[in-house]
Amino acid sequence: MKVVLLGAPGSGKGTQAGFISEKLNIPHISTGDIFRENMKKKTPLGLKVKSLMDSGNLCPDDLTVELIKERLNHDDCKNGYLLDGFPRNLHQAKALDGFCPPDKVLNLDVDFERIERRITGRRSCYECGGTYHVDFITDPNKCPLCGGELFTRKDDTSETVKTRLKVYQTQTEPLIGYYSEQNKLVTVDGNAEISDVERNVLEALGI
Ligand code: AP5
Repeated sequence: MKVVLLGAPGSGKGTQAGFISEKLNIPHISTGDIFRENMKKKTPLGLKVKSLMDSGNLCPDDLTVELIKERLNHDDCKNGYLLDGFPRNLHQAKALDGFCPPDKVLNLDVDFERIERRITGRRSCYECGGTYHVDFITDPNKCPLCGGELFTRKDDTSETVKTRLKVYQTQTEPLIGYYSEQNKLVTVDGNAEISDVERNVLEALGI
C-alpha cells in the first residue's frame, strides 16, 4: 500500500509511522528526517536547507521532489511506501501524482492549542533517532530505549512553532481538500492518547 501521512507539525505523524510501516511492511520515509540527517553530516544539501529548516520554513520544492522521486526507486518500496512530511503543498502533491500516486492519505487532526506543548516538550535521541515527550519519560536527557543523549530540535521553539503552523495552514492544509476530492482521504482524531490514535489509525486504514 502507498500511504501519505498528513497533519500539522506535532500532530503525531512520526509517532504513528513506526507501527504502520511495520504492519504494512513498507518503509517509513520522512523528508524531515532526511534533511536533518544531511544537516548532521554537513552535506551540501544539509548546508543548503539549514536556515530554512531552523526558521520553520519549507525547503525548495524542486529539490524535495527530486529527493523523493529518487528514494521511491529503491527496492524497499516495492510493496509501497509511508510518506511522512511529503507532500507539503499542492505543487508537491501534483508531482507525486505524476510519478507514484498514493492509495490512501491519513490525516491526523489535532487542535492547534495542543501543538505547542507537544512540540516544545519533544526530545529526540542522537543515537537511535527515537522521539519522546518530556511528560512521558523519567529522565529528559536520556533515551529510555537505548540510553543515548536526548536533544531538542532547533525548530522546536515556541517562536518557530508559530511560523510552522502558519506554513501548514497556508500551504499544507489545502491538501485535505485535494485528496478528499480524489476519495483517498481518511481522517483520524489525533488528540487522543497515543494508543487510542493507533487503534483508530488501524481501523481507518483497514489493516
Ligand atoms: P518535519 O520533520 O516533517 O516536521 P513536522 O511536519 O513539523 O512534524 P514534526 O516532526 O514536528 O511532528 P510529527 O507530526 O511527526 O509529531 P511527532 O510524532 O514527533 O519537517 C521539519 C522541516 O523540514 C520543515 O519545517 C521543513 O523545513 C522541512 N521539510 C520537511 N518536509 C518537507 C517538504 N516536503 N517540503 C519542504 N520542506 C520540508 O509528535 C510530536 C510530539 O508529540 C512528540 O513529543 C510526541 O511524543 C508527542 N505525541 C505524539 N502523539 C501524541 C499523542 N497522541 N498524545 C500526546 N503526545 C503525543
